[in-house]
Amino acid sequence: MTQDFKGKVALITGAASGLGRATALLFAEKGAKVVVSDVAVEGGHETVSMIQAIGGEATFIVCDVANEASVIELITKTVEVYGRLDCGINNAGIGGLWTATHKYPTDNFEKVMAINTTGVFMCMREELKVMTQQGSGAIVNVASVAGLSGFPNNVAYAASKHAVVGMTKSAGLEYAKKGIRVNAACPVFTITPMVTGMFDVIGDEMKDKLEASIPMKRFGKPQEIAEAIVWLCSDSASFITGHALPIDGGMVAG
Ligand SMILES: NC(=O)c1ccc[n+]([C@@H]2O[C@H](COP(=O)([O-])OP(=O)(O)OC[C@H]3O[C@@H](n4cnc5c(N)ncnc54)[C@H](O)[C@@H]3O)[C@@H](O)[C@H]2O)c1
Repeated sequence: MTQDFKGKVALITGAASGLGRATALLFAEKGAKVVVSDVAVEGGHETVSMIQAIGGEATFIVCDVANEASVIELITKTVEVYGRLDCGINNAGIGGLWTATHKYPTDNFEKVMAINTTGVFMCMREELKVMTQQGSGAIVNVASVAGLSGFPNNVAYAASKHAVVGMTKSAGLEYAKKGIRVNAACPVFTITPMVTGMFDVIGDEMKDKLEASIPMKRFGKPQEIAEAIVWLCSDSASFITGHALPIDGGMVAG
């Protein structure tokens, strides 16, 4: 069993920052050709430069995952550039608002669902079109522990991530006999720009409470999440599909 990705092509959405960037770098370290995608152009190019600096191969393709035409173009261009698609990491996402459910605004709920749920759905669907033709592939949808348990004061985020877990299980079952594995990664709070932005809103006291609620008593590191995502795509995980993997310092075991 190997974690060698030489000759393989990995696409990561939301790769201009945080977990997506860490995952793109790790795929490149392990020999994959990497498509770095994001709506943020500058950060996307930065990730490509970071990959090139370690001797890796990468291309940036801009995409807004909430826009169907943009998603179709992303997958089309990926195949134009590299000729195939082996790993699809549907990671782009936003955090939603820290707001009680009875006050949560519909427009923000719909925005979170459009990016975190419909975005993952459209990316996965277009990736599966390529992978069914190839007869092989691995997809990891980035959900959250909020896709497995409730997340008080962020109903939209929890709804969007539970939907990602549901889509992952459904597609995992559908494509199990077709050489394509579909899994979800479910991280707990990990230090990225999304989460430091949330800490600014909730304040230090709540931040400390959240950290104390994690059995390992610390937040995650982007590299720890990237390791799990890349492993799920590797041949080492060849018998795993339809799974939602907590990467959470023990959080959902409680
Ligand atoms: N950091 C955590 O604690 C944590 C925990 C669980 C799950 N997650 C999930 O991990 C994923 C990555 O989050 P992160 O913490 O790295 O956040 P981040 O904000 O650092 O990165 C998210 C990236 O997604 C991009 N993005 C946002 N909307 C987009 C769109 N419409 N189209 C394309 N790209 C878009 C952003 O530009 C950004 O580069 C998200 O799906 C998030 O929900 C994060």
